[in-house]
Amino acid sequence: MEAAWAAERAGRSIVHLEVGEPDFPTPVPVVEAATKAIADGRVRYTSSLGIPELREAISGYYAERFGIDVPARRVVVTTGASGALLLALAATVDRDDAVLLADPGYPCNRNLIRLCEGVPVGLPVGADTDYQLTAGLVADRWSERTRGVVLASPSNPTGTLVAPKELAAIATEVDQRGGVCFVDEIYGELVYDREPATVLASPGLLDDGTPFVINSFSKTFAMTGWRLGWMVCPDWALPAVQALAQNAFISPPAPAQYGGVAAFTPEVWAVVEERRRAFAARRDVLVQGLQASGFGVPVLPQGAFYVYARSDGLDADSMRLARRLLDEAGVAAVPGCDFGDHEPEAHLRFSYTTALDQITEGVRRLTAWRPSA
Ligand SMILES: Cc1ncc(COP(=O)(O)O)c(C=O)c1O
Repeated sequence: MEAAWAAERAGRSIVHLEVGEPDFPTPVPVVEAATKAIADGRVRYTSSLGIPELREAISGYYAERFGIDVPARRVVVTTGASGALLLALAATVDRDDAVLLADPGYPCNRNLIRLCEGVPVGLPVGADTDYQLTAGLVADRWSERTRGVVLASPSNPTGTLVAPKELAAIATEVDQRGGVCFVDEIYGELVYDREPATVLASPGLLDDGTPFVINSFSKTFAMTGWRLGWMVCPDWALPAVQALAQNAFISPPAPAQYGGVAAFTPEVWAVVEERRRAFAARRDVLVQGLQASGFGVPVLPQGAFYVYARSDGLDADSMRLARRLLDEAGVAAVPGCDFGDHEPEAHLRFSYTTALDQITEGVRRLTAWRPSA
């Protein structure tokens, strides 16, 4: 991204397929509610677990959208999904505890586990399992030092999902082994050709001892800079999470929380739905364009706004390829080394977080570009 900005400052035209956040604005009702909160002086620390109205609104989201009863007591409002991941891991992972995660995967998780003095154990995943963990992989790699498993469905960087049955099987497997599952559903509302789902709707997974379910306003509601997220926390972990939240953050940002209450309204859901359709159309154009340009997309990404494309048909070194695409074609993408150790040199992540005409132009540039020998 830095290199793409530098090229732009030097006067070059760059198509941005590297950005990991929605290009849409925050829905108006959210902006208005937050602005009013600021004008009314509701800008002080709040309860460390979040304002009651927002915790109730999030509980209502699960009831309305998925027909499940998630008590507001178990909803913890956080400083983004990042804050939720940090609190959940810090409340559970002790020194030398191993935590399993998919490789490739969201890079911050590895670092947060290390911050808790745990040991991240990346399990290589590929197209055969939709770039996701399976209950079998988890069982194979479980050891007496394993504390838990982090999953993201849809995933960053692959945009692929864990099928609901498999997700429930993993959660059950982990539970039976006395471990903890951390399920990141930050892209859960941005899914295509299917309806949104939550692991909490799987039979038996709402009881105590269930996964930590992490979510955020960042991607669904285009609120990355507001720093607002949440998690559904098992009852047994609430005291530790509350103590950690008080110490690490005091509270999530107050204006953002008042804005967040206005997100769960039919008006805003209509905006989200429109955007979901726009993302699906962009995905189709990008995937077809990448395939026509010599990239491999063995699994159609079903969510988020990423395509994790095989790039070794064009260049065996994805870092070099990213540089060349930027310099020679004016297209910015992210090299696989940002996401783990499993074949990073053979992959690039492309995002469809820019307008359709930009994506079409990016595809035109990629198709016209041919690697020089
Ligand atoms: C899978 C995943 N989890 C969590 C986050 C962090 O999001 P937030 O802005 O809510 O902290 C991101 C951000 O890109 C992500 O891709």
